[in-house]
Amino acid sequence: MSRPATPSQAVILVGGEGTRLRPVTSRVPKPVAPVVERPFVAYILDDLARHGVARAVFSSGYLAAAIEAEIGDGAAYGVAVDYVVEDEPLGTAGAIANCAPKLDDGPFFVFNGDVLSDVDLGAFAAVHGEKGGMATIFLTAVADPRRYGLVQLRDDGSVADFLEKPGEWEGTALVNAGVYVLEPEILDLIPRGRLFSIERGVFPKLARAGSLYGYVDHGYWRDIGTPESYLQAHFDILERVVRTAVGDDMGDSYVYVSPSATLGTAARIVPPCYVADGAAIASGARVGPLAVVGAGAVVGEGASVVESVLQAAVRVEPHADVSRSILVRESRVGAGAQIHAAVLGEACDVGAGNQLAAGIWLAPGTVLADGCVGFREQFDARES
Ligand code: GDD
Ligand code: MG
Repeated sequence: MSRPATPSQAVILVGGEGTRLRPVTSRVPKPVAPVVERPFVAYILDDLARHGVARAVFSSGYLAAAIEAEIGDGAAYGVAVDYVVEDEPLGTAGAIANCAPKLDDGPFFVFNGDVLSDVDLGAFAAVHGEKGGMATIFLTAVADPRRYGLVQLRDDGSVADFLEKPGEWEGTALVNAGVYVLEPEILDLIPRGRLFSIERGVFPKLARAGSLYGYVDHGYWRDIGTPESYLQAHFDILERVVRTAVGDDMGDSYVYVSPSATLGTAARIVPPCYVADGAAIASGARVGPLAVVGAGAVVGEGASVVESVLQAAVRVEPHADVSRSILVRESRVGAGAQIHAAVLGEACDVGAGNQLAAGIWLAPGTVLADGCVGFREQFDARES
């Protein structure tokens, strides 16, 4: 069967609530949560533009207006972007079907809006054309497949079994990487206007009919849907483990400091490190390795920010210590506070001297008075 090379259109699923990524996603939908100072989905749009995919339909619901406000008509990314908004979540298949009126006849890509990868869309589409199935799924190998769609392949590349979120599984397996090439006939298999999942309602059925194929790629792949993974995506971009425009701009120095940022005397910028527009790093502060300092953020004298993300307008006051943490926009960390492996929601205010650690997270707007939370590494209630 001969089919056109690479589809010129894509549906991007951006309607989920991103609950596992709270409080990063409490006020901002996951697809436009900033990742190294860009709305996440910009990285997907870059990939589409690079592969000549000219049009994208965003299927949104949760905080839809915020997505449109951020991405607009897509001109800044070289892809013409259109929007379809659900009143109620329709699930992944319902959401795709809802976009049908905006799609041209012919195959199209579908992207989960939280996937960062290097996949070669041209090679992927070519395999879809060769196999001639109704759908081809990009597959990646992960060590723990339990929170993904588990896929078992036959020797000819067809999918023998698709099992969404298997409760139990030991060892590495191929999983659904959240990018598909679909033939338009698939839309006929999806009931309109009600909750329907492509992973549970469509793929298992296509697999049984022998019309579902897998495209295995062992390049970079990550779902940014948890705080650990969101943080790691920043590190991977800064270390240029995944190829992005941001990493290309940083080049071999692995450092970007905006010309409008200010650095105090003896401020230390340790690569890899990204310092955005208007940020200020005071004298004797240390930033990096693996740090992002967002637009207009301030790092006070003698403070330290290591393996962490400070979003826009965050303030880290003198001699505070921030490591392996995410500070959502406009949050403040008072003088001498220690923040380790924590996530601060938007506009949190952590007073001086507090110690937060061990995976704690604060909802947006939480206020902690000076010196009211501490942390003992060795505390063990069993000892008398
Ligand atoms: N429009 C719309 N409507 N979008 C939705 C809806 C909905 O009802 N539900 C989810 N989405 C979007 C989310 O915004 C996200 O971009 C994408 O669909 C996938 O949803 P997630 O909530 O991130 O799913 P997941 O990560 O648990 O699992 C999915 O992705 C894995 C790969 O990352 C599944 O496709 C798995 O099979 C897959 O392995
Ligand atoms: Mg996901």
